[in-house]
Amino acid sequence: MNIKKQIALRLRTIRLERFIASLIYSWQRDRIERQYGKPKPSEPMQTPGQLQGLKKTDRGAWMQFERAAVQVEFLKSDFVRVTWEPGWLPVPYAIAKETWPEVKVTVEENRDKILISSSQLTAIVSGEGSIEFLDESGRSLRQELPPQRQGEQWTHGAKLRSRERIYGLGERAAPFNLRLQQGKKYRMWHYDAGGLYGPGMDPLYLCIPVYVGLHENGSYLIFYENSFDANFSFNDVATAEFQGGAIRYYFTAGNPRQLLGNYSELTGGPPLPPRWVFGYHQSRWGYETEKAVRDTANGFEKYDLPLSAIHLDIDCKDNFRSFTIDPDRFPKLREFNREMEAKGVRIIAIVNPGVKRDRNNKLYREGVAQEVFSTLPNGEIIHAPVWPVMSAFPDFTHPLARHWWSRQYEYLLDLGVCGFWHDMNDPGVFTLWGDATLPTPTRHFMEGRGGDHREAHNLYGLLQARAGYEALRDYRPEQRPFIVSRSGWAGLQRYAWTWTGDIETSWAGLRQTVSTVLGLSLSGIPYTGPDIGGFKGNPNAELYLRWFQLSTFLPFCRTHSANNAKPRTPWTYGEPTSSCVRDLLRLRYGLIPYFYTLGWEAQETGIPPIRPLFWEEPDNSQLWDVEDAFFLGDALLVYPIVFAKARSRLAIVPRGYWYRLSDDSRLQGSRRLRLDVPLAEIAVFVKAGSILPMEAGKTLILHLYPPVEDRGEGRVYSDAGDGYGPWRLDGFEMTRTAEGLELNWHSQGTYPFVYQMVELHLHGMKLQQVWVDDREVRFGSPAPETSPVKIAPGMVVCCDRFQQVRFLGRMD
Ligand code: NOJ
Repeated sequence: MNIKKQIALRLRTIRLERFIASLIYSWQRDRIERQYGKPKPSEPMQTPGQLQGLKKTDRGAWMQFERAAVQVEFLKSDFVRVTWEPGWLPVPYAIAKETWPEVKVTVEENRDKILISSSQLTAIVSGEGSIEFLDESGRSLRQELPPQRQGEQWTHGAKLRSRERIYGLGERAAPFNLRLQQGKKYRMWHYDAGGLYGPGMDPLYLCIPVYVGLHENGSYLIFYENSFDANFSFNDVATAEFQGGAIRYYFTAGNPRQLLGNYSELTGGPPLPPRWVFGYHQSRWGYETEKAVRDTANGFEKYDLPLSAIHLDIDCKDNFRSFTIDPDRFPKLREFNREMEAKGVRIIAIVNPGVKRDRNNKLYREGVAQEVFSTLPNGEIIHAPVWPVMSAFPDFTHPLARHWWSRQYEYLLDLGVCGFWHDMNDPGVFTLWGDATLPTPTRHFMEGRGGDHREAHNLYGLLQARAGYEALRDYRPEQRPFIVSRSGWAGLQRYAWTWTGDIETSWAGLRQTVSTVLGLSLSGIPYTGPDIGGFKGNPNAELYLRWFQLSTFLPFCRTHSANNAKPRTPWTYGEPTSSCVRDLLRLRYGLIPYFYTLGWEAQETGIPPIRPLFWEEPDNSQLWDVEDAFFLGDALLVYPIVFAKARSRLAIVPRGYWYRLSDDSRLQGSRRLRLDVPLAEIAVFVKAGSILPMEAGKTLILHLYPPVEDRGEGRVYSDAGDGYGPWRLDGFEMTRTAEGLELNWHSQGTYPFVYQMVELHLHGMKLQQVWVDDREVRFGSPAPETSPVKIAPGMVVCCDRFQQVRFLGRMD
């Protein structure tokens, strides 16, 4: 029988098997829930009652109420932790920093109120347990109601200010401002959208109980360190209802930079990935053989398109078993990976957490013997159907399970796999009805204190990513890990990237992508991007191109699609689409120094590369609800087209002056206008005062966009592109002078400067003379064909190293 027939037969039988398994499992899960599940609480809802005692602590105060206790502790002067008990305290999986330097705090009793203050914030706790946060000028930022407890459940409410906007909660298929949906409940329970989702679907794969409350009278971020199933809503009152656990939350105030900076200090910064990851990734569920992957890679060569990685979906596995490779379809993966790497293409392999129940499966036998699988309260291993049908699920809340799991990556790493794609780790399982995951009574080790799936569910993907990350650090200490994970929780950024899952192929899906990515950014997840063109369905050329244009400016740039979609590559649509995509990819690869520098900045500061339009102007209400445009770093402002047949769009432009990337036309911000955007273009603006670093081979190209007044700057981070060796940071500063412009270069770090040449492209100025370190040099406008990307070239000066360049000329 030939391979195709074998595959078709296998798929047919597996489909039937999966259907039957899903039926049986759905029924079993209901039975388990009935037998062991927590009954609905019968007790009445109760508030904490009256304050009975106060104890001052090093960082704040501990207060006893009749039926609850609260501790208010300052981690820093603008960062407070509040813990309401009773209830399980969280195992600090999300937390990267547990010890904080001393902070000066005062505690004052004032009639029936307790005032706990640092130099920047005050928390006022009332005798009934409400808490109000004030900033240093006494403005009220948030008024929390006394929490209410019913059985194990807690409800926590806070009055929202009238114009307050809410952003975050992880990955959401919702408007960017979550408060727009009055009455809506946002659930915190990772959910496998099962192959398709569109706007309005809630929840999705990666929920995080963190949000930003934005207001002209002061903004804040709040993170609930509670992984239990929960519901959030934002009406006049913001409500968070948790199924269990103590209510522990962190509150910080300031501008968006400060909020995300503090959150990332607490939950960890995103490590800089290898440089190649910022290139283009091609994927498809349906590369069934080595040949199919090779043909795809060859296509990129044939059409002269750059490519950094190909992702292997479950087609590469032997009977869908974790950490295997099908020996018939991928017979020589090691050689194949070498062949691909020689072309500069890395292979990323999928890893699903479900381990096939099969006595002939060594991984399963090992897992059983080592007792690393999740069990029911009676000690039996819980099995549920996923791709390999009945499977067991490692309990990643057990350090031994994580260690055991992390050892499995070695096999694929030895075969030359360069990175991993964690899928189905919500964890998602196949059901015919009801919740598509493990039963809530499933037991979890929780580092020894014990717990059930109500608490561990949302942590599952995070801890799998931790195991994967540790494996890559151990087995390849000289390389930086790359993992892209569908699910996760607060702290995922320390281990993995993510993608926005199975978004539908539609214009609505494309529009949703922008809000979803912005929401993830404000939830501390900086590295994400969509399946270009949507997961299920076949986009037409226009939709694919518009999706590609958007993704060119997002951190994760990958085409991926479902197995029943037609093959989708940049050349699938013929001309002119493939040439447009080629231009986009050249632009993307040219911009890698910029992406990489943003990656370094994110690692150092926690500031995400993708930022909402209000980032620098949180007080400007015009910008609050913009969900179809974003900043990429400080320099670029991106207005994608997200409607069919649109050749123009409205743009709300933030303050400052902006140069259009394609033609250097300059406009003044703080206004709305209509932009013409032909099909082949995406409207991108560069902020006046920016230096946009790009590269072409061994040439560093600095695009100088002069400041309208004063000064401007740019920087370029570089290192070997991978590993943990030396680095360098080149800082460039532009100053307006009476004659024109001056550019100065300062460097730090020991990594050598790798470029052989520097090209300075000066935009928006008529040049008369140029001096490089006091030596007059020639300048000119490059021939159009020498500029490989669709970006106005400006006036070009070539040099190697310099300390100072002086430009004589005047602004256009
Ligand atoms: C679900 C994932 O979201 C999707 O990207 C993948 O192709 C399929 N699982 C098959 O592995």
